[in-house]
Amino acid sequence: MREKVDQLRQTALESLKQLHQPQDLENWRVRLLGKKGELTELLRGMGALPAEERPRVGQLVNELRAQLENAFAEKQKALQNELRRIKLQAETLDVTLPGRAAPVGGRHPLTLVQEDLCDIFQSMGFDVVDGPEIETDHYNFEALNVPADHPARDMQDTFYLTDTLLLRTQTSAAQIRTMESRKPPIRIVCPGRVFRADEVDATHSPVFHQMEGLVVDKGITMCDLKGVLEQFAREIYGPETKVRFRPSFFPFTEPSVEVDVSCSACGGKGCRVCKGSGWIEILGAGMVHPRVLAGCGIDPEVYSGFAFGIGLDRLATTRYKISDIRLLFEDDVRFLAQFEGGKQV
Ligand code: DAH
Repeated sequence: MREKVDQLRQTALESLKQLHQPQDLENWRVRLLGKKGELTELLRGMGALPAEERPRVGQLVNELRAQLENAFAEKQKALQNELRRIKLQAETLDVTLPGRAAPVGGRHPLTLVQEDLCDIFQSMGFDVVDGPEIETDHYNFEALNVPADHPARDMQDTFYLTDTLLLRTQTSAAQIRTMESRKPPIRIVCPGRVFRADEVDATHSPVFHQMEGLVVDKGITMCDLKGVLEQFAREIYGPETKVRFRPSFFPFTEPSVEVDVSCSACGGKGCRVCKGSGWIEILGAGMVHPRVLAGCGIDPEVYSGFAFGIGLDRLATTRYKISDIRLLFEDDVRFLAQFEGGKQV
């Protein structure tokens, strides 16, 4: 009987060592220590023994039970530890790996230009104002000294929505709205989209962008206009930039000028960008027409002012060497990602 006990101990402990799965361990427990297990079987076999040997053998079997129970508990713990270790290892994160870069949008070249311009004019004391894209004939033309039969209306091919409502053809409409709602001194710029029924090509788009400027105060002269525009041109194109005024015509300014800056690509020598002339036209400007001031309730005998309208699309295309204006409106992320802040992954 003692031999049987020893043998059972040996095989039980041996088989325990081979176990690696919790389910196998449980099976082992049932097989040896369970109600119908091998140990119980052994106890049952005691019936065949002489009465005086039973207590001793009973003790042996109980010792074996205790030993197997201990071994079971230990193995259970070891197995749990091992399983936890394997699980943790599988879940290990390598925090030193570089992160996955998400595509980040960049600011549109037009937005960049517009923001720069707002900064420049704000630093000179201008406020930035907004105006509606759907305008009345009054604000877009009439109040700007362009009556219905004026030939200057032919300069701009207008999208009319009704007889009196239209898509603004120029941010100049903001001049009137500002002069109606503010008293001089006035210093504003108004950036925004404008619309004209132009055919689309590399330099024309029916939607484009302008920034209007307006200054009204006592004693404002053409010199102030020139000083402000020179400052603006130097900030945008560099300190060497020269500015030139050419006489021109706009119904809402008198005198009117067109303003060129020396070509930043060739420094004024003449190149493809400036079509050999050394100059690039960037805006129209002039002294606000007395009739326009008077129409807004500002006495032209007391006040004077200047105004200008900058084409932003041209500014963006020359600055970033963009060969076709259409690229600005196609929303191709491969194009847009090339500008400041943009990253394509
Ligand atoms: N509105 C004009 C245009 O779209 C540009 C312009 C010229 C604006 C002279 C002005 C100005 O304020 O004084 O062609």
